[in-house]
Amino acid sequence: MAFANQKAELYNDTVVRQFAVMTVVWGVVGMLVGVIIAAQLAWPELNLGIPWLTYGRLRPLHTNAVIFAFGGCGLFSTCYYVVQRTCQVRIFSDKLAAFTFWGWQLVILLAAISLPLGYTSGKEYAELEWPIDILITLVWVAFAVVFFGTVGTRKVRHIYVANWFYGAFILAVALLHLVNSAEIPVGAMKSYSAYAGVQDAMVQWWYGHNAVGFFLTAGFLGMMYYFIPKQAGRPVYSYRLSIVHFWALIFTYMWAGPHHLHYTALPDWTQSVGMVFSLILLAPSWGGMINGVMTLSGAWHKLRDDPILRFLIVSLSFYGMSTFEGPMMSIKTVNALSHYTDWTVGHVHSGALGWVGLVTMGSMYYLIPKLFGQKQMYSLKAVEVHFWTATIGIVIYIAAMWIAGVMQGLMWRAINPDGTLTYTFVESVKATYPFYVLRLLGGLLYLTGMIIMLWNTLMTATKGRAVSVEVPTAVAHA
Ligand code: HEM
Ligand code: HEM
Repeated sequence: MAFANQKAELYNDTVVRQFAVMTVVWGVVGMLVGVIIAAQLAWPELNLGIPWLTYGRLRPLHTNAVIFAFGGCGLFSTCYYVVQRTCQVRIFSDKLAAFTFWGWQLVILLAAISLPLGYTSGKEYAELEWPIDILITLVWVAFAVVFFGTVGTRKVRHIYVANWFYGAFILAVALLHLVNSAEIPVGAMKSYSAYAGVQDAMVQWWYGHNAVGFFLTAGFLGMMYYFIPKQAGRPVYSYRLSIVHFWALIFTYMWAGPHHLHYTALPDWTQSVGMVFSLILLAPSWGGMINGVMTLSGAWHKLRDDPILRFLIVSLSFYGMSTFEGPMMSIKTVNALSHYTDWTVGHVHSGALGWVGLVTMGSMYYLIPKLFGQKQMYSLKAVEVHFWTATIGIVIYIAAMWIAGVMQGLMWRAINPDGTLTYTFVESVKATYPFYVLRLLGGLLYLTGMIIMLWNTLMTATKGRAVSVEVPTAVAHA
């Protein structure tokens, strides 16, 4: 592919383009592994008796690939694009930015090798062993220097709200990673957590919940605040609300972690604090959703024939749905039913597939043609088909998990008049089987959409040339 003359570049779009392409590639890989483990839950023999392909090893590979490879590359790409446009200045350091790209790909590669080999710290969403943790730290520090360096050298006085969200995401993830991954190495690929017992559990779920709040939410809200106004051609509905949204969200998220540890050895009052803050979290979450959706006021008709806008707006409706469901599940009596069941998995994927997935895809469809000097994607029809396969896939996936989850919860707690359990555990597993097959179908549809996106991206890239923008585009907001 021919690269344009880069001498008069105002912005560094090379790194944006690299991350954008890898977002799509890792999306396909991560979701393929998701489909494989979904199939294994229905038919466990699919591990073929090979240790590397067992469910316990592929599951963390799936979560790491979709969150940190697919989601992570999408965040890096959009963050570098947005911060340059809204600050109207070239990225702070090209070399450091390139280091973040290659370093992050190396982290992903090492994860893809070490997890199937069985190396794990055993901490959910922080499974990677200590040498990889150190590499993550180096990449993250470089990311922070590039981002805040760019903001610091900006040519406009104002710091656009998307950058506040990206900045909070970078700082919070640094803090989470450093605290939760504190560990004592006892071998080249083996370490023990610096914490023990219930403290370990609390630190882990302080991390886990804030990974949701800052990795899977704050950064993507940054995307939302830039790409929805851009694609809709409208200013953000209420700039004041966006600031209230920002401060309320980041303050509240930090306290909600204990809702993952209801009815455990964690002190009861701590669980209640987690529950109360989770309920409060509904307000800023919905404030943000309403702000995004209302940005379309006066331009609703655009939804009719703009599939990219549809990705972005439907992502917000899933965001609203999962941030309503989450606070409900954090109520102890509700959690007594939902915990350990597939309801949780349904909740996770309404947020992950519906919110994180769709907002990333919409933003990428906006970005990719521009990065390759095209007016639009190679095939808008394919974008449309992707939208429908993804949306139908999500609905099948989460509906199957909700029904399965509530059914499991009810079966586990059912008791006979003499106090014995009505159902054995294996009976609940058997009853879940059809829903696992349905989930697989939903996942296959979602993956198909992603493969269509990969094809469309390759066609757009080979049709166009990699370009760099020489004239600053207008800042998104009024
Ligand atoms: C084709 C699409 C996908 C399929 C078929 C799929 C399938 C699965 C399956 C089978 C599990 C294990 C559930 C269990 O242990 O019972 C899982 C877990 C998980 N997946 Fe996915 N997934 C997909 C996409 C995604 C995406 C795009 C994300 C994030 C952006 C994601 C995030 C997660 C997370 C966080 C978990 C752990 C959930 C928990 O611990 O409760 N998945 N997925
Ligand atoms: C107001 C916002 C939210 C609240 C209060 C909330 C609350 C909860 C609760 C109570 C659980 C179940 C814990 C358990 O029983 O083990 C949970 C699990 C989870 N949620 Fe949310 N949720 C919210 C939004 C989201 C969003 C938007 C996403 C994804 C983008 C998400 C991803 C997850 C994940 C990955 C888990 C599973 C963690 C695990 O056990 O591995 N949540 N959430």
